[in-house]
Amino acid sequence: MPRFDLTIAGEINLDLILYGVPEELPRERELLADGMMLTLGGSSAIMAHNLAALGSRVGFQSRIGDDQFGEIALQPLRQSGVDVSRVRQTAGAVKTGLTVILQREGWRNMVTYAGTIAELTWDDLDFEYLTDSRHFHISSFYLQSGLRARVPELFRKMKAAGLTTSLDTNDDPDDGWEGGLDEALRYVDIFLPNEREAQKAARANDLETAVQKLSAIVPLVVVKMGSEGAMAQRGGERLVSAARKVEFVDAVGAGDSFDSGFLHEYLQGGDLAACLAAGNLAGAFSTTRPGGIEAFRDASYRKGFLEEHRLQK
Ligand SMILES: Nc1ncnc2c1ncn2[C@@H]1O[C@H](COP(=O)(O)OP(=O)(O)O)[C@@H](O)[C@H]1O
Ligand SMILES: [Mg+2]
Repeated sequence: MPRFDLTIAGEINLDLILYGVPEELPRERELLADGMMLTLGGSSAIMAHNLAALGSRVGFQSRIGDDQFGEIALQPLRQSGVDVSRVRQTAGAVKTGLTVILQREGWRNMVTYAGTIAELTWDDLDFEYLTDSRHFHISSFYLQSGLRARVPELFRKMKAAGLTTSLDTNDDPDDGWEGGLDEALRYVDIFLPNEREAQKAARANDLETAVQKLSAIVPLVVVKMGSEGAMAQRGGERLVSAARKVEFVDAVGAGDSFDSGFLHEYLQGGDLAACLAAGNLAGAFSTTRPGGIEAFRDASYRKGFLEEHRLQK
């Protein structure tokens, strides 16, 4: 029996979320926010945290800076049970990454200082550790510029070691959607884009064409559709699943939380419909509190919510 259910090599940063900021940002003015949250960010870190909170055994390889933000980020990961023994500190000028999010009514501005996100490279990877698992996941393909060129090789190695694999690219800040993505997808069992990312990755102008093109390469394509829920294409088979109605605060980390719910159910042996429902439930749950992990880190709130929705394992 492998040590972990899922291992992940990826990024840890912090999210600073400001609420109630004016629509326009004039120069040289003192502007006021009426709420804030400093919390764990990074698609990989949110996914790892929430997956461990659901009960999966998670091993995480990453880099943080030699600074207080790195320490702040590690606390909730440890608390949720993620193994952080392979998280290394980078000494020097490069600091733990930070994303500043200005949450608006129904949309948001985001500015990221990538920091140590780009410091994780192939030479950091402990393959004995990463392969001591049933499944391997990569998030934020385009932010991981130190690792990206060798991600296809990494997935190939994981598959050769008998693991199943999944990828959530998230957005490409350059919007070019290249850098070896097509090659990486050849070794991916489950691809988890949102609607826009699916179309960009497939170089298609509509979702239907995108899903057809992607599912010719990847055995299971799962497209996240915000408040519309999600759909899955497995060969010729299509499943759709509606979003859960909840009291919405923000969508920070909703996609990463969806991934954790979906993969937790998948690793428990659930069928595709159950995986989609669990993804939608986890995504919706994350939107009920600020940021990506705040709902999940509150154990009694989490248990109550999941029990109410009868998906608690
Ligand atoms: N307003 C919402 N109400 C309920 N569920 C939501 C809402 N927004 C997002 N979700 C859930 O979170 C998932 C991921 O959100 P989405 O915005 O599509 O992904 P991403 O964050 O990657 O862009 C959705 O598939 C859905 O399950
Ligand atoms: Mg996403």
